[in-house]
Amino acid sequence: MATERFRREVIAGLLSAPKRLPSKLFYDERGSQLFDEITRLDEYYLTRTEISIFERYLPEMAALVGPNALVIEFGTGAGIKTAMLLRSLDHPRAYIPIDISSEQLAIASRELSARFPTVAVHPVCADYTESFRLPVVERGERNVIFFPGSTIGNFEPPGAVEFLRRAASLVGTPGALLIGFDRVKDRKTLEAAYNDKKGVTAQFNRHLIERVAEGFEVSISPEDFEHYAFYNEPENRIEMHLVSRKSQVLCLDSQTIHLAAGEHIITEYSYKYTPESFAKILAESGFQVSNTWTDPMDYFALCHAVVQR
Ligand code: AVI
Repeated sequence: MATERFRREVIAGLLSAPKRLPSKLFYDERGSQLFDEITRLDEYYLTRTEISIFERYLPEMAALVGPNALVIEFGTGAGIKTAMLLRSLDHPRAYIPIDISSEQLAIASRELSARFPTVAVHPVCADYTESFRLPVVERGERNVIFFPGSTIGNFEPPGAVEFLRRAASLVGTPGALLIGFDRVKDRKTLEAAYNDKKGVTAQFNRHLIERVAEGFEVSISPEDFEHYAFYNEPENRIEMHLVSRKSQVLCLDSQTIHLAAGEHIITEYSYKYTPESFAKILAESGFQVSNTWTDPMDYFALCHAVVQR
């Protein structure tokens, strides 16, 4: 049986109109594995493009971050980009990974401590979308938040601003942000990235149904839901939905939820930005852009921004 909080969030989402499931629920061990597989798909250009930007511009990024930095990362992932950053920085002092999954956090912290013995690693197990406290560690010359992968795109713009405002107060002055975002581009490329031929994204999407089934100990079949992902151009976002293939009734704790055949559940938004629209989000959040780096196709971008005094 899942935690009280998980159950509350699922029920609230399924009682809302339209029905929704929170995208942060994708990332248990199996969901993280599926996401890892997505990052290696031909159609999913985001991860490899971001890595290529790092390979080319890390010296410039490291110069902006400066020496003796304390690096705070929201989420841990496979740690490839973190290792690239720590290797490029001038004497990074400490690294604070923040992740909701304690297993993921333990694995990433162990590996990075072994690779970077002079960097103090202080893992924090927390949901970084909520408020939390940082461990008291010796402050670096500069505190920098590292938030790669375009995860900021999974927040709706007002939520992104609220989240980044909290990030600005967490990091203080002088403080900075090194963040990745996915760029607005043609519909075909965007929709292919979320509708891969191997069906891994469909499996990832349906994994939410497995989580609900496990979490409430009820029998709901992922096969009764169709994966649907499309680019909503006026809103500049990919939307992922699960579409019920039949009329069904879900009994979750004391709630009865009816799903009509063909009814949609929104599972994820993935916003795409232009450098200008992203700079606007950052300005509203109290950051000023120092530099933005992109790839030759203008597919993805990384941005360094400082907290405004
Ligand atoms: C984690 N996040 C940036 C991914 C994205 O592209 O929005 C999650 C994802 N959803 C489907 N494929 C990947």
